[in-house]
Amino acid sequence: MRDFLFGGLLAVALSSGVAASGSPVIAARATSTTVQAVTITGNAFYQGSDRFYIRGVDYQPGGGTGVESDPISNATACKRDIPYFTKLGINTIRVYAVDNTANHDECMDALAEAGIYLVLDTDTSKYSLNRLEPKESYNSVYLQSVFATIDAFANYTNTLAFLSGNEVINDVNTTDCAPYVKAVVRDMKQYIGSRGYRSIPVGYSAADVSQNQEILADYLNCGTDDQRSDFYAINDYSWCDPSSFTTSGWDTLVANYTGYGIPLFMSEFGCITNTRTFTEVAALYNSEMTGVFSGGLVYEYSEEGNGYGLVTISGDTVSPNSDFTYLSSAYAAATNPSGDGGASSTSAATTCPTESSEWDVSGDALPAIPSAAEKYMSTGAGTGPGLDGDGSQDAGTADNESTGTATAGSGTVTETASSSSTSGSKKSSGTTMAPVDMKAFGAFMVAIVSMIGGMALL
Ligand SMILES: *[C@@H]1O[C@H](CO)[C@@H](O)[C@H](O)[C@H]1NC(C)=O
Ligand SMILES: *[C@@H]1O[C@H](CO)[C@@H](O)[C@H](O)[C@H]1NC(C)=O
Ligand SMILES: *[C@@H]1O[C@H](CO)[C@@H](O)[C@H](O)[C@H]1NC(C)=O
Ligand SMILES: *[C@@H]1O[C@H](CO)[C@@H](O)[C@H](O)[C@H]1NC(C)=O
Ligand SMILES: *[C@@H]1O[C@H](CO)[C@@H](O)[C@H](O)[C@H]1NC(C)=O
Repeated sequence: MRDFLFGGLLAVALSSGVAASGSPVIAARATSTTVQAVTITGNAFYQGSDRFYIRGVDYQPGGGTGVESDPISNATACKRDIPYFTKLGINTIRVYAVDNTANHDECMDALAEAGIYLVLDTDTSKYSLNRLEPKESYNSVYLQSVFATIDAFANYTNTLAFLSGNEVINDVNTTDCAPYVKAVVRDMKQYIGSRGYRSIPVGYSAADVSQNQEILADYLNCGTDDQRSDFYAINDYSWCDPSSFTTSGWDTLVANYTGYGIPLFMSEFGCITNTRTFTEVAALYNSEMTGVFSGGLVYEYSEEGNGYGLVTISGDTVSPNSDFTYLSSAYAAATNPSGDGGASSTSAATTCPTESSEWDVSGDALPAIPSAAEKYMSTGAGTGPGLDGDGSQDAGTADNESTGTATAGSGTVTETASSSSTSGSKKSSGTTMAPVDMKAFGAFMVAIVSMIGGMALL
């Protein structure tokens, strides 16, 4: 559901020499102590010994402009919005893209003071997996950007979690991306461990594709601990007011995910088919769901031209829309269950799914980390590319792409075979596409993407 950003091609055309990318602008800082770091036990998040439920909104003001920008590097804008976060009663925001060369101290500290955590997507439009070319786009240039983003946020105690990708798999035909999605999670976890950071949870945000969302959940939670995601997140718009736990199908959703061994939350929810009164909030924080779900985030804070905004922003002025008030009331009325809310204290791995007509993945082996990226584990990633530069999707070559597989369960980054079976089949016309959802744009956007892809070839 995140707004489509034209895969960076338009952004290149429109941006005007933004940041100088020479010297690192991130100064060393003391770790914020205003909030307690969130940890995972079993299938739930905890703040100390208390269960932690995500109550949030997705936050990417400017996301609808077509030019990607970092909403939390601008302290003025950030501080303009924090009082509204407080009015909403939230404890978490999700941000979809940041500039890993920018300084985020002021905004992150102000968020911490307000008791607000960050769930951060480590991809950007230019530095991301390309669902049409997963093998080529899984390269060291991409991973360097991801790792630099981890460096930029690892010191903040209120960094709750990293999302390795958003809706890379967005239909029935892109499940061959799954080994690459999982490899990125593995690499991020290894980087966090190798650099000696706090164990910041790493997971993935899945599109609502009924044919494969639950298979992907199993896939990301199978294998050895170093390969398993720390949590899974789903984007779900199936509760459209007026509705109920059973009418929406959320009862089946809960049943289907019962027993899932890692925390699960809604990284996007909030259907706009009718007036949003957010009656789903009462269900999400009720014990009928909390044994399986750990809350969620409403899409999205600011109006970006697609009707999902809770507020309209104009310069320094923020005007709440009517569903802002409904959401605020719904969060206020939804008290968490007492105790652990039915959470499981154990974290069972799943059995890896087998190849099928709905799951185009053979075997459990993952692509090995590109050897050119392996060195970052010991040296650190260095300065990231920010939101600019040539991007990573077409940067891959034999020098910096994965050239082999890592044996499932080995926990090693050593290459053991000479080629990956998943390459090539969907190689297309040079279209550069960000891993963002196109549900709201449908066939129209597909046509635009093809057109831009075609133009890029001229
Ligand atoms: C994080 O903290 C460590 C230890 O204080 C410091 O060396 C490092 O520079 C900090 N990193 C950032 C990005 O602030
Ligand atoms: C930061 O945000 C404020 C409020 O929207 C805006 O007026 C200002 O131009 C922004 N600054 C930069 C450097 O983008
Ligand atoms: C998936 O591929 C099949 C076979 O090539 C095709 O018929 C179908 O339209 C595709 N579906 C999507 C959603 O792209
Ligand atoms: C639950 O699982 C069943 C059986 O696999 C599937 O048909 C259904 O679509 C799932 N429902 C939801 C809401 O995930
Ligand atoms: C990856 O390959 C591209 C194309 O050869 C090259 O320009 C780039 O410098 C390489 N990057 C790394 C990190 O090796």
